[in-house]
Amino acid sequence: MITFDYLIQQVRYHKKSIIIANIIAVFLTIISVPIPLFIPFLVDEVLLGKEGSFIATVNQFIEVGSPEYYILIVFVLTIAIRAISVVLSIVRKAYIDRVVEDIRLNIRKKMLAHLSNVSMSEYDMLGSGAVSSKMTTDIASVMKFLSGSIGNITVQVLTLIGISVILLYLNWQLALIILVLNPLVIKIFIGAFKKVSKMMKERNKAISSFTNSLTESLELFNQIRVQNREVHFTDTVNADAKDIRDRSYEFQLTAKRTMSISRVLLRYSNDLFKMIAVYLVFLGDMSIGEMLAIFVYAGMVMPPIHMIIKFVQDYHDAKEGMDRLNDILRLSVEPKYEMKRDPFEELTTASIELKNVTFAYDENKTVLKDFNLKIEAGEKVAITGETGSGKSTLANILIGLYSISSGEIFYNGVEVKEIGYEKIREHIGFVLQSPLMFNAMLRYNLSLGKEYSDEEMFNALKIAQLYDFVNELPEKLDTIVGKNGTKLSGGQRQRLSIARVLLDNPKVIIFDESTSSLDNETENKLLEALNPYIADKTVITIAHRQTTIDKADRVVKLKTKAEEKEKMKKEVA
Ligand SMILES: Nc1ncnc2c1ncn2[C@@H]1O[C@H](COP(=O)(O)OP(=O)(O)OP(=O)(O)O)[C@@H](O)[C@H]1O
Ligand SMILES: [Mg+2]
Repeated sequence: MITFDYLIQQVRYHKKSIIIANIIAVFLTIISVPIPLFIPFLVDEVLLGKEGSFIATVNQFIEVGSPEYYILIVFVLTIAIRAISVVLSIVRKAYIDRVVEDIRLNIRKKMLAHLSNVSMSEYDMLGSGAVSSKMTTDIASVMKFLSGSIGNITVQVLTLIGISVILLYLNWQLALIILVLNPLVIKIFIGAFKKVSKMMKERNKAISSFTNSLTESLELFNQIRVQNREVHFTDTVNADAKDIRDRSYEFQLTAKRTMSISRVLLRYSNDLFKMIAVYLVFLGDMSIGEMLAIFVYAGMVMPPIHMIIKFVQDYHDAKEGMDRLNDILRLSVEPKYEMKRDPFEELTTASIELKNVTFAYDENKTVLKDFNLKIEAGEKVAITGETGSGKSTLANILIGLYSISSGEIFYNGVEVKEIGYEKIREHIGFVLQSPLMFNAMLRYNLSLGKEYSDEEMFNALKIAQLYDFVNELPEKLDTIVGKNGTKLSGGQRQRLSIARVLLDNPKVIIFDESTSSLDNETENKLLEALNPYIADKTVITIAHRQTTIDKADRVVKLKTKAEEKEKMKKEVA
């Protein structure tokens, strides 16, 4: 889980960078906060000719005595300090950014590692839109807090302390007034922030609802068009857009109002403070130079306070962000079994056995009950059965995409728990009933990132009866297939996914309705070309079409629940 403890642990790995960055921060504060102190020196000692420490100090080094000279010294010093500050703050930021980006990468890696192992049944519940928003915006809010806490907050707190110390030094009575007034102002600010941030959340919710309905409508655009439902869908999206308008308006208005009021209150406290300072000068308790310096410092107090308040806000955002990130980490992962025995080693194929297998997607949806099946090594079995009888489900559990609730599955006599699903998926090719495509080149859709030569790919395409089609494309293997392979016909997609599995040279192949979209002639050609390739492999062909089924050594028929009940009744009668 991503927690504050996890962040601390991550930060520990970068201890050195953070210590350096914070030492720089302390140094920066020490050199830059006192800059305005030059004002009382210039005004009181140089302009008004009072006795003081500044001229005395300078005179220790060189005694010149002309005012232009002191002004020049202050000017040069100020410029030098500011230049050093700029350079140092860039260095400090570089250290912090490096740490933050490293940790962001680690969090992304952690999330992806978990996602890639999430069990299929949990994954079905997940919207891909939700996941991608978590991977970007929610991580961003956590990182914003982190970068504030390890980078910025020390500078702000130190600046505030520095200013308070200097104010106390200049005039402690006045400083006390500021130090009492400011917490009051802070309190008002926090109240305002809370109210505004609540409205901002409402607005963000409206935005995310809008994005969701928009993305979904865009993805289903074809279906919507076909069914003449554009008006309905535009209305839905429009309603969400209208909601954004109302929420945004409300949010902006409140933000403007509360911020303006808080700001004016702050100005009032500043005004009051300046008047008191002027009065103190009048009473002779303070010099004009000190008064001017205090004016500058009073103005400098606000930005760090602002940052600290924002930091508190960031903390709450980060907490919520973490919770949303943990939604993903809370999804259970599929069982991982260590490989103890490899039943595929040195064999070209494998036998399969299911013993008393029961499987349910959820409690009241048992698809297979006490199911038994034995397939010999090298056997060609056809699986048929009514739609919904569980054929695809059977294929899914064979490669462990879904876990069975009871029973055992064996490959070459070895139970799957001793083999592990990684090994199983390495040797069992599964041509999905609805194959999915990346919007990328044919080449990538065939290899999914594995290394294959063009020759190997073309060989697989030849068996899958897709060679001529690809060869005649101007870009050949480099042709982009479009979103979800839309630039291909249904049959071409099926053949592409067959070629994809052939490339892996698996020892067992499961075809799930893989030739259903092909015409009889193409299907025959494909099966013929496939024959030598699958001669010594175990093959499970799920199909409805009689001519496909006829090619198998043996036919297994799955029954739906209704059919089984029917059969039971007959038996009883
Ligand atoms: N991911 C899932 N979550 C919940 N139920 C599912 C899921 N996939 C399938 N089912 C249900 O399981 C039953 C068997 O589905 P399955 O896809 O295995 O049937 P099939 O025999 O392959 O049908 P078809 O011939 O139409 O492909 C169906 O009643 C279906 O509604
Ligand atoms: Mg199916």
